[in-house]
Amino acid sequence: MSKIVINGGKRLFGEVKIHGAKNSVLPLLAATVLCRGTSIIHNCPELSDVNASINILRHLGCECTLKNNTITVNSNAIQCSQIPDSLMLKMRSSVIFLGAILGRCGNAVISSPGGCELGPRPIDLHISALMRLGAQVSECHGLIKFNAPQGLHGAQIHLSFASVGATENIILAAATARGVTVIHNAAKEPEICDLAAFLNACGACVYGAGTDTVTIYGADGLKCCTHTVIPDRIAAASYMAAAAITGSEITLKNVAPAHLTAINSVFEEAGCKIKCNGKGLTIKAPQRLSRVSTVRTAIYPGFPTDAGPLVLAMLSKAYGTSVIVENIFENRFRYVDELKRLGAHIKVEGKVAIIEGVSTLSAAPCKCTDLRGGAALVVAALAAEGTTIISDIHHIKRGYESIVSRLSLLGADIKEV
Ligand code: EPZ
Repeated sequence: MSKIVINGGKRLFGEVKIHGAKNSVLPLLAATVLCRGTSIIHNCPELSDVNASINILRHLGCECTLKNNTITVNSNAIQCSQIPDSLMLKMRSSVIFLGAILGRCGNAVISSPGGCELGPRPIDLHISALMRLGAQVSECHGLIKFNAPQGLHGAQIHLSFASVGATENIILAAATARGVTVIHNAAKEPEICDLAAFLNACGACVYGAGTDTVTIYGADGLKCCTHTVIPDRIAAASYMAAAAITGSEITLKNVAPAHLTAINSVFEEAGCKIKCNGKGLTIKAPQRLSRVSTVRTAIYPGFPTDAGPLVLAMLSKAYGTSVIVENIFENRFRYVDELKRLGAHIKVEGKVAIIEGVSTLSAAPCKCTDLRGGAALVVAALAAEGTTIISDIHHIKRGYESIVSRLSLLGADIKEV
């Protein structure tokens, strides 16, 4: 298994291009299941989660090619509606294919997505919403079967929690259902807007994406379209944290500043200067960061849970004590024990992490526990004295396109062995 080796303490400089958003391209690939003809998706990041999604599409009968960050998908010949266990367990977010398969085929079979590194990942909100759209659901031998013999019909759906995945699944299932669906308390993440833009370009009628009430008028079938994925706001936060912890000044290209307001305000409170110019963002960090007042993760437009690990890592070397409260996932702090191996002083009590900044971090072998926790180890290692060896880096490859070469180009002493 390959590892990432980082010799810390180097200042970063120059520019880094932010890749397309993982959490947008996955639902977009699911949406191609609803389309006839060949859809073209640009700015698609080369990630293992994208490869897993391509394997699911091919398993369903689609023709897919990914070349130079552009994916083409022809979904004319779909002849299967089951996502096999192997693919389902490979990527928990495979559940996002459920609504599209159900909308296209009138039935779908998935295995229960099981847990993941962030704690249990229930899909009760997805299931109850699809039942309101007319699906009959049965479970046996770890498989969940959805059937809509008369097709899906519109419904009023109130989400008890503004779940991103459930909102996406409902939009996908309702896009070609008979009648009107209204989602109340919908998630408002930018990735929801990107999905709605793609579907509307294919002939769907999705209104209100980005607000907490989304209305979908079912269309009689969707054509294909060409679309460009929005930038990855969490990848942007990750490279900003790398600059912040090393006292560097770098420029990020191809970002969407409007998606970064909650993130930027934490970095500015920590002492960074941030300048946005069109699709570019320049961050200039102080020699040493200052503590920030309590960071509470929340649904969009609040501070994103996925950026929590990156900000926690950079604050581990700040003046003073900071607090992060994780309000979205039950078990998001598993990576903290690995960070403490690098000398960080962090205390986790339930959903609260108390970070007492230290003046130096010291290299130590450590291992990734999950995607963003792994990226947090990279951020900390960039500022640790000595050579850090990070293992289980397959977690990182799920969500960061060529992170080693991007950081190396910024001046980090980093390699994959
Ligand atoms: C999406 O996950 C993202 N993944 C996550 O990013 C992100 O952290 C999360 O949204 C929150 O923003 C993708 O888009 C592929 P949720 P999702 O449904 O849809 C509970 C990353 O690092 N819940 O909004 O799974 C759930 O347990 C990943 O890129 C239910 O209880 O998130 C969690 O506590 C990590 N029942 C909370 O809601 C359900 O039916 C948030 O889940 C669904 C969710």
